[in-house]
Amino acid sequence: MSDEKKVAKLEIDGKTYELPVLSPTAGPDVIDIRKLYSTAGVFTYDPGFTSTASCESTITFIDGDKGELQHRGYPIDQLAEKSHFLEVCYLLLYGELPTPAQLEDFESRVTNHTMLHEQMQYFFRGFRRDAHPMAIMVGVVGAMSAFYHDSTDVRDEWQREVASIRLIAKMPTIAAWAYKYSVGQPFIYPRNDIDYASNFLRMCFAVPTDDYQVNPILSRAMDRIFTLHADHEQNASTSTVRLASSSGANPFACIAAGIACLWGPAHGGANQACLEMLREIGTPDRIPEFIARAKDKDDPFRLMGFGHRVYRNFDPRAKVMKQSADEVLELLGIEDNPTLQVAKELERQALADPYFAEKKLFPNVDFYSGIILEAMGFPTSMFTPIFAVSRTIGWISQWKEMIADPQMKIGRPRQLYRGATLRDYVDIDKR
Ligand code: SDX
Repeated sequence: MSDEKKVAKLEIDGKTYELPVLSPTAGPDVIDIRKLYSTAGVFTYDPGFTSTASCESTITFIDGDKGELQHRGYPIDQLAEKSHFLEVCYLLLYGELPTPAQLEDFESRVTNHTMLHEQMQYFFRGFRRDAHPMAIMVGVVGAMSAFYHDSTDVRDEWQREVASIRLIAKMPTIAAWAYKYSVGQPFIYPRNDIDYASNFLRMCFAVPTDDYQVNPILSRAMDRIFTLHADHEQNASTSTVRLASSSGANPFACIAAGIACLWGPAHGGANQACLEMLREIGTPDRIPEFIARAKDKDDPFRLMGFGHRVYRNFDPRAKVMKQSADEVLELLGIEDNPTLQVAKELERQALADPYFAEKKLFPNVDFYSGIILEAMGFPTSMFTPIFAVSRTIGWISQWKEMIADPQMKIGRPRQLYRGATLRDYVDIDKR
């Protein structure tokens, strides 16, 4: 995108500075402040990066006001309905929808890398059985850099490609084995004759004593959940992966950092926190009590699954997830799921409340996902690991984009310092 010569003027202490304005293909213009400190001797200040673009990207675009999400220009609702997760992985990774031959080759490469190095089993066994699966995933994914040395040199394009395929392929196995380990059941190996989502469900729920047949309703719902969580611009965990990768650290360690960030309840951990909140509410008559708490400035309680830094309208993923929840629960014959009833009534009452309307707080991707995952048989502790399995393609795609950028620099923010100014050391006998 060639940037026309638009400028922003900044006046400081009577002196005017001209800053270039860069125009995107979609979204707001950005003021290029890269030379601000060297020319004007000042920093900008933006904790939480509410008004700061950290990078240039071509992967995902969100229009928060319209509630739109596009991957390489394709709207998420079309991808959720017409595509499938591995095709979306190809799109995010390489920029275009694959031809049939390209898709077949990509799916074959992923399918043939789903097994873990056999020695990694013993890494799992070092954890307590009651370890949170996210703790296991952070550890095991980070440890991949100790097992797959031949794909850790980020300067080598072929090693970057191998690491990408290994991570996409092995994350479901790692997440499934973290679950199996927590319930004391034997690890189930992936198979090459079933699709990605079916493999994950089978590795989670099969046992060696029975032939496990994947329910096609559940595998389609699982695949759609993977698609809906795949990438989301420069969210906290993606920004973590970019910052960690900017030092040249290996991809496995950087993805482990992303998993750690995603675990937080303000981010990917919200799906677990949301379902636990819905269970705590229990019945629709208690909803007003919780809405009052969410509005109370003196109460740290927030409605989990509500609100978003970017969306000032419905999260389009939440819309698709809500439809999927209705479909899956009906097909499973549990339409009168009490948690779903509470969720729908909570959404209705919150959206009718001026507090949420004024602050433009709507359900986000985490509000309905847990209801589907619970209906599929997952414990709440597996909700965020499933988010991590899906978001790995987003992290990897953004990582590859950044590493390949010749302008890439190590990320090193500055600060607004308000601590003690220069002073001399005082010996302890003089204090
Ligand atoms: C994800 O970034 C991404 O793209 C993330 C994600 C992805 O795909 O990667 O979409 C995934 O993380 C979704 C968000 C999941 N988190 C939750 O559902 C947790 C509950 N939501 C909030 O904690 C909050 O809405 C955030 C963290 C999501 C966004 O917080 P912001 O952008 O920092 O907004 P804020 O905290 O400044 O809130 C603005 C106002 C505040 O009130 P005032 O101080 O202005 O009076 O809205 C209020 C907040 O108190 N508010 C809420 C609320 N969320 C914001 N009040 C009650 N309940 C809530 N959920």
